[in-house]
Amino acid sequence: MIKKYSIKKLLNQGKFLLNKKVLVEGWIRSFRYSIFISLNDGSTIQNLQIVLSTNKLDKIIMKKITIGSSIRVIGIVKKSIGKKQYIELQSLDITIYELVNPGILQKSILQPKRHSFEKLREQAHLRFQTNIFSCIMRIRHHIAFCIHKYFHEHGFFYLHTPIITTSNCEGTGKMFQITTMDLKKNQLVDYEKDFFKCKTYLSVSGQLEAETASLGLGKVYTFGPVFRAENSNTSRHLSEFWMIEPEIAFYHLEENINLAEKFLKFVIRYIVENSMEDLIFLNQCLEKWKKKKKNYLLEKLELILKFPFKKISYTETIKILDQEEKKKNIKFSHPIIWGMDLKSEHEQYLVDKYFKKIPVIIFDYPCSIKAFYMRMNNDGKTVRAMDILFPEIGEIIGGSQREERYDMLLQRMKDTKIDFNKLWWYLDTRRFGSVPHSGFGLGFDRLVQFITGMNNIRDVIPFPRTPNNAEF
Ligand code: 4AD
Ligand code: MG
Repeated sequence: MIKKYSIKKLLNQGKFLLNKKVLVEGWIRSFRYSIFISLNDGSTIQNLQIVLSTNKLDKIIMKKITIGSSIRVIGIVKKSIGKKQYIELQSLDITIYELVNPGILQKSILQPKRHSFEKLREQAHLRFQTNIFSCIMRIRHHIAFCIHKYFHEHGFFYLHTPIITTSNCEGTGKMFQITTMDLKKNQLVDYEKDFFKCKTYLSVSGQLEAETASLGLGKVYTFGPVFRAENSNTSRHLSEFWMIEPEIAFYHLEENINLAEKFLKFVIRYIVENSMEDLIFLNQCLEKWKKKKKNYLLEKLELILKFPFKKISYTETIKILDQEEKKKNIKFSHPIIWGMDLKSEHEQYLVDKYFKKIPVIIFDYPCSIKAFYMRMNNDGKTVRAMDILFPEIGEIIGGSQREERYDMLLQRMKDTKIDFNKLWWYLDTRRFGSVPHSGFGLGFDRLVQFITGMNNIRDVIPFPRTPNNAEF
């Protein structure tokens, strides 16, 4: 049996495999001078150079093959004469899995020329064969992997929280309803007859369940898809996205903030150390297409690692914005008033201009703009919330210390019109050894977007779900 290699492994081990017979499979990226094939199998951004021989069989193949065709090659590993690669494969036998019709190829995103990201999205099923998207997907994988690694190594347990739920964790915002009933317009629906005997939705967050688990397991985290039916057509919003939600018993807000900063830095450091090849490729694309400066991506990531994140209270934030508006003659389109929700123009100004692209952690927000479960401060006006703002992206993490006092929690639920009867089990945890506890939610896709430098969040998830878009 001839040993099968991924192109990544073959290129890595090439030195030790000289003159050995190996088998590789992949898709043709280019075909030059009628003898050089660049083959890619997705394992790496690098292509393997296949050198065709002049035998009869290869000559027949030469006439047929097109870019995008899938092939299997058996060949001998040789030291390459070309400068671009250390080894190449001298072909002995080629099998074609499928040839791509040149007419179809021309209309597709696999036609080798620059395509817009919008165009790539229209053929989302073929994006995986492009250099740029395969780079992003490999980085996405490594980010997910090192998130699990971080939590595992720090004593957290991975918790699977339900996707189907009866409650809205965040209290606001629309949810997708799920039902097995045939709903007709204007018809009164008896949900007793529905599958779960009640109205159910796709979950917007696993936090409430994670809290119950942390009050027993100590440290847990979730990593799963969440769903939000808001009509937000922005470059940072998806209707279905992935969220990581650690929840830790006996943690106060300060410990929560420190964990979030250490965790984000760990992930970014891991990617810089483990995905350099893909980062360099992305950087080259951004230089070429978006006129970004040399090393833009790497410098941006280094900046996150270099300095402690800025930490300021909401009240200080409002003061800064107000002073900046007066001093620097800037006009925000939303007036700066204590109690307002920060809009992206404010977030951007704060991170990109005021703090010169160093991430900012804002804490102690007014209770009126935050969810019911956050712990009330002694001032009775603010809660122990924290948001982390990143350059370019804005909010990447939202978290808080939770309200662990039964009476206070119940009051907050009443004040914010949360159906506390439905959440009886959540409230109940505050009667069985309740303790201070905290957690946060990291928007996974926003983190991938930041690390890969993509303008639009739809370009970092395999099959984006956004308003009017669930085709693939
Ligand atoms: O701030 P959010 O809504 O917080 C929660 O859901 C809490 N239950 C988390 C917790 O404390 N356990 O969402 C958390 C993060 C945001 O900071 C943002 O990065 C991301 O999720 N996010 C979105 N990402 C993509 N598309 C959307 N529509 C998003 N909405 C929030
Ligand atoms: Mg938030």
